[in-house]
Amino acid sequence: MREQRLRGKTVAPTQSSDQRPADVLVVFGITGDLARVMTFRSLYRLEARGLLDCPVVGVAADDWSLDQLVARARESIEGTGEVIDPAVFDRFTGRLSYVHGDFTDPATYQRVADAIKGAECPVFYLEIPPFLFGRVVHGLAEADLTGSARVVVEKPFGHDQASAGELADELHQYIDESQLFRIDHYLGKMGIDEILHLRFANTILEPVWNRNYVSHVQINMSEDFGVEDRGHFYDPVGAMRDVVVNHLMQVVSAAAMEAPSRGDLTSIKDAQVALFKAVVAADPAHYVRGQYAGYLDIDGVAPDSATETYAAMRLEVENWRWSGVPFFIRTGKRLPVTQTELRLVFKRPPPLGFGVMGPQTEANQVVVKLDPSTGIRVILDARRSDLSAVGRIDLDMEFADQGGEGATPYEVLLHAALRGDSTRFTRQDGVDETWRIMQPLLDAPPPVHAYAPGSWGPAEADRLTADYGGWHDPWNAR
Ligand code: BG6
Repeated sequence: MREQRLRGKTVAPTQSSDQRPADVLVVFGITGDLARVMTFRSLYRLEARGLLDCPVVGVAADDWSLDQLVARARESIEGTGEVIDPAVFDRFTGRLSYVHGDFTDPATYQRVADAIKGAECPVFYLEIPPFLFGRVVHGLAEADLTGSARVVVEKPFGHDQASAGELADELHQYIDESQLFRIDHYLGKMGIDEILHLRFANTILEPVWNRNYVSHVQINMSEDFGVEDRGHFYDPVGAMRDVVVNHLMQVVSAAAMEAPSRGDLTSIKDAQVALFKAVVAADPAHYVRGQYAGYLDIDGVAPDSATETYAAMRLEVENWRWSGVPFFIRTGKRLPVTQTELRLVFKRPPPLGFGVMGPQTEANQVVVKLDPSTGIRVILDARRSDLSAVGRIDLDMEFADQGGEGATPYEVLLHAALRGDSTRFTRQDGVDETWRIMQPLLDAPPPVHAYAPGSWGPAEADRLTADYGGWHDPWNAR
């Protein structure tokens, strides 16, 4: 985990016991889109911070020269808006080499073996479609390269509970679960760690963070942009598979899990999985799907597609801390603002019966903003000296004002994979559990409702939160 600096205090990252630094990073699919928009920039920024210290071997089917790869690296990094420091760029590209070949050809893996000869702890990063994961890991195993390797894979991990299990079984033929690092970039975001820290490091919060005081929880991930040029990817997937089963369930776990009994990887993951086990399988009656008007015109989208670009649902967590407290999740594309946040809404106090009285006291809320910037808001009800009434007061804190925003998710995750810290990657039993929770929604999806771009989604979703005061607009929507 990255180091955090708050008020001059440096917090040591949690260490896991199985850490061994990589001595080479091999990127399969380095000529692809993810490398262009994320990987080159992240590796370059790690280089700039002195955190990259091994060779980087790119592998792809394209018959490119090293010069072409270096040119792609430059254009990719600049394309993200990063201003290149020539010395850093030279150091970074000095690490690069390139192997081209067909992923179905055993000779490709032999060439990879030659390129990384002598490496004792290679990290193989598979930025390739999931149907190729098994093929590539098999090829690596045949070439005797997986013994002490780590394999990093991108989502999606299956498209339902059964296929997620099959994918894991396929990979487990060649590598152990402890060697498999599944990327969910929400685990690289500043925010998830901060939620856990916020909850358990503050005596004024932990005792009230439960069913005795909390009325309900709302998790919002709204995006003001649409599916644009990702129709081919998105249409068979939809909002629930794209961001709920993975990213937003990570937020649910950070908001709801118990404190891990120790800081090691197993204890942290065990605490997370224990929470997932307590989440009741989702009920299609509490699930609303939406599709924004215009989605069907997107290239790659089926003309009669019923894929949801909006999903709203209610989840229940049946354990001592949360029984009776609904967790509402809402996400969508083409909503009014881009923001991800976790919001705890506390129970209302009884009528005060004294002092200056407003019509109704405001419920306290704690909001953790994860995106586009990170921060914490505490909403209190207070008597203001400038008014003859009481009213809502927002106490806001932006992490940017408290020592900076920190590294981007992919920098955090690639660095963690290179160091062998799997805390920020998902474990198979956690993946299984999140699919178990969502599977009823896949088996019996409710109809999809149209919504206008720029709106908060279909009105049908209002009924989910009607008994709880409705959906809250996110922090930056006002
Ligand atoms: C991706 C999804 O995993 O996460 C996208 O495929 C989504 O559809 C994105 O927009 C959101 O990530 P972030 O970091 O921009 O909040």
